[in-house]
Amino acid sequence: MDYSPIAPLYQLQYQHYTDDLEFYTRLALNYGGPVLELGAGTGRVSRAIARQGVEVWALEPAQQMRKRGAKHTQGLGVKWLAGDMRQLKLKRQFPLIIAPFNALMHLYTLDEQDAMLQGVRAHLEAGGRFAFDVYNPAHIGPQGVLQHEGSYEGTEVFLFQEHHPTAQALLTHYLVDTLSPSGTLKRQRHTLTQRYYTRYELERWLRAFAFDYRLFGGFHKEPLTPESPVLVLEAWKK
Ligand SMILES: C[S@@+](CC[C@H](N)C(=O)[O-])C[C@H]1O[C@@H](n2cnc3c(N)ncnc32)[C@H](O)[C@@H]1O
Repeated sequence: MDYSPIAPLYQLQYQHYTDDLEFYTRLALNYGGPVLELGAGTGRVSRAIARQGVEVWALEPAQQMRKRGAKHTQGLGVKWLAGDMRQLKLKRQFPLIIAPFNALMHLYTLDEQDAMLQGVRAHLEAGGRFAFDVYNPAHIGPQGVLQHEGSYEGTEVFLFQEHHPTAQALLTHYLVDTLSPSGTLKRQRHTLTQRYYTRYELERWLRAFAFDYRLFGGFHKEPLTPESPVLVLEAWKK
């Protein structure tokens, strides 16, 4: 899906999200660069890694996300690439490939998922790591219930979710309200479509492409429990 229309909202909502930064920067310091980030968004994670002095290649298809990302990482030497993780052709290998914060939830079919993992396998150095995190579907909340997501610099964000269990799809409908100085309310609507993964689906997928892996229920490498907010995977080629 094209993130360009929601780029300003994404940056407002998540620029201060830091739960995963230590996990990914530690991997970058351990495995070295260049690090390839797939779905680098507005550069939240790329920036944190580059600030540690590790080279980053940030792959992002949405032009408005890349534009914000380039600004956010200015002066840090991050290499921004327009590209699609389903069609990786970078003519080199990387010691670390990462896909933080649900980027893989934008692979909607088995063919898309397989094309992406095949590309990761081809671009990962022997002994290198592929790390990613996705939402734990055990936490899918109530459907159709309007929630106030937050207030961001004068913008009120509301959302409600639609869950399609047979498609393993989660649709998040955003209502973004901004009050102009003249008192006029402007409402924008956006829908984010994500495909979620179950734990054993991820494990079977990685095994099918000859990866070994460790699975965690959090960024401090906690075991997976029903309360875990995320599934965190660290994988390497057998
Ligand atoms: C939830 S955001 C995560 C952004 C960033 N990784 C972060 O942690 O803040 C998901 C990103 O994946 C990107 N994306 C969606 N489909 C993609 C694809 N096929 N290839 C590469 N990136 C994609 C989106 O444009 C978006 O920037």
